[in-house]
Amino acid sequence: MKRLGILLSGRGSNFMAIAEAIKSHRLLGAQIAIVLSNVANSPGIVAAQKMGLKTAVVESRGRSRDEHDMEVIARLHQHKVDLVILAGYMRILSPRFIGEFPERILNIHPSLLPDFPGMHAHRDVLVAGVKESGCTVHFVNEQVDDGTIILQRSVPVLPGDTEETLAARVLEQEHGAYPEAIARVLSGKYESRDGYYVRRAGADDSTHVSRELRK
Ligand code: GRF
Repeated sequence: MKRLGILLSGRGSNFMAIAEAIKSHRLLGAQIAIVLSNVANSPGIVAAQKMGLKTAVVESRGRSRDEHDMEVIARLHQHKVDLVILAGYMRILSPRFIGEFPERILNIHPSLLPDFPGMHAHRDVLVAGVKESGCTVHFVNEQVDDGTIILQRSVPVLPGDTEETLAARVLEQEHGAYPEAIARVLSGKYESRDGYYVRRAGADDSTHVSRELRK
């Protein structure tokens, strides 16, 4: 059983989608070891508390990035975390943090990376006038919204879309994409090649994800 450490700052809907996938046996071989927020009383951490999961709040205010990250790292190790899942965690990780979990920190971003990185992906998509957007689950490296792409799902950008309508369409895809990406990583059947996460030659077809999730 691999142990997930979920880091969030806000709403927590991706965390809840992952928790639901585990609970309903659609994501196998994973358990949530700790949910950690840098924001006390964020909806995500409150939901985790209500679900009876182990939680921690490590506030960042007034502390250096390194100081804060050291405490987060210590908490993750304390709970024997194998994979770190950033789920709306609104902080840039220090190089020290990234080095501590090589190819074991995942993030989800609401665009088809490498297009539209940064804080305002939906706005930037609408301004650019492209016809397609989506979400990307990727490993975290020292650049923002960079790192090997594990999985992407696309959605159309429709006439009349606002940031809100586009965000809602993308979010629905995020909730399926994140559990599936975690399953890929846990399966041990993929490897990073030229910025993408591809199946190893000869890997068999069984996965950590149920057929329903793979649709
Ligand atoms: C998502 O859109 C995700 O792509 C981005 O932050 C948002 C988090 O939403 N990184 P939630 O807190 O999981 O609901």
